[in-house]
Amino acid sequence: MNNPASGNAALAARDLRHVWHPCTQMHDHESVPMVPIVRGEGAWLIDADGRRYLDGISSWWTNLFGHANPRIAAALAEQARTLEHVIFAGFTHEPAIELAEALVRITPPGLDRVFYADNGSAAIEVALKMSFHYWLNQGHGEKTRFIALTGSYHGETLGALSVSDVALYRKTYAPLLLTPFLAPSPDAYEGEPGESPEQTAKRRLGELRTLLERHAHETCAVIVEPLVQCAGGMRMYHPSYLSGLRALCNEFAVHFIADEIAVGFGRTGTLFACEQASATPDFMCLSKGLTGGFLPLSAVLTSERIYQAFYAEYSAGKAFLHSHSYTGNPLACRVALETLAIFRDEPVLQRNRQLAAHLARRLEPLRAHPHVADVRQTGMIAAIELVADKASRRPYPAEERRGLRVYLHGLQHGVLLRPLGNVVYFMPPYVVDASEIDLLVDTAIAGIERAVAS
Ligand SMILES: Cc1ncc(COP(=O)(O)O)c(C=O)c1O
Repeated sequence: MNNPASGNAALAARDLRHVWHPCTQMHDHESVPMVPIVRGEGAWLIDADGRRYLDGISSWWTNLFGHANPRIAAALAEQARTLEHVIFAGFTHEPAIELAEALVRITPPGLDRVFYADNGSAAIEVALKMSFHYWLNQGHGEKTRFIALTGSYHGETLGALSVSDVALYRKTYAPLLLTPFLAPSPDAYEGEPGESPEQTAKRRLGELRTLLERHAHETCAVIVEPLVQCAGGMRMYHPSYLSGLRALCNEFAVHFIADEIAVGFGRTGTLFACEQASATPDFMCLSKGLTGGFLPLSAVLTSERIYQAFYAEYSAGKAFLHSHSYTGNPLACRVALETLAIFRDEPVLQRNRQLAAHLARRLEPLRAHPHVADVRQTGMIAAIELVADKASRRPYPAEERRGLRVYLHGLQHGVLLRPLGNVVYFMPPYVVDASEIDLLVDTAIAGIERAVAS
């Protein structure tokens, strides 16, 4: 029997007395349950009353190899007994060195330098500052602007939010932010009727070219989420946009920042999304899956050429100035190494291909649903676009919160789904099996029926 003092209700009540949760109107919890999780096991989360939830979204896209993965947990415990943390200026340690070596080995060729930070947004801040500072060190202090894509999301610290274009997160804080130039997203869903995703990408590259012709002289970098704009609604685009972007950035002397924070580490079918376009960005931001979902850590990879623009006598004042207390934390680096070791030892991408194919087969019938305008998938990310009217693709008004109904249905049926507005999506840990994918899809379909019912 559950002890009521440590059960869901008691923990939720204590939580709501003091804790302020992210991305949440706390008032919602007057009707939406707060779920206290006490344990994780593979793709499952277990609450304080013993109820189980299949984690269909990898706990905000972080988890790759299961909750409380024993192999990663053991590496973490061993590291904790050896060295938990040390200042990372003037001091170093083997986990950080080994991880930098490994990241340089597995990322696209030409990324040879690794700067650590401790979460995704911080990595974006680093990349933006590094790009600006590179141009400054090269005598181009007039380059102070950035180009971002419509519908992009790069985090919620002020710099990262500045280059994001999701109104929900940006609008309120807009007076505090830098203003980027927005290039239209190559999002295939927004393509012209009859246009292929590749044609949409080509047309959007043409528009980016126009923007660069006008603004490259004052622009440091173009920042994109390669292949999938995740928080913006799992909007997907053709890889040729990335190769075209690489060529345009070379032509116009601006940097290409690839934010692989959500899509890196196998999510899109390749280890990194940029591989599908054989494109090496000037900066690649990594986080989330980097530690298999265990600990916050991020890394910004860049080229030797960019590194050398900062390398000078101290008196030249060219050093990159950015630090976080927990930069290069040894526990997180060790956990990241163990995560990479799993990729090395197990046929992860091959297995993911089979799982992704199964997911695709299961989602196929939804295309005919009267309130589904699009079913799209890139590797281990799949999304269903709900609409009020299929013919015109008119979306449900945001205030109807249809996605919340799917979320609540999922909770009642032991599945964690967390739609983004009208987009129901799946981004499960790689350890799910076919029957768990079936459960995700069946629960989502039933949830969608409830969400569109009235
Ligand atoms: C593409 C992308 N960039 C950056 C971030 C920000 O990462 P964090 O939440 O660790 O700050 C996210 C988070 O969802 C993301 O999806």
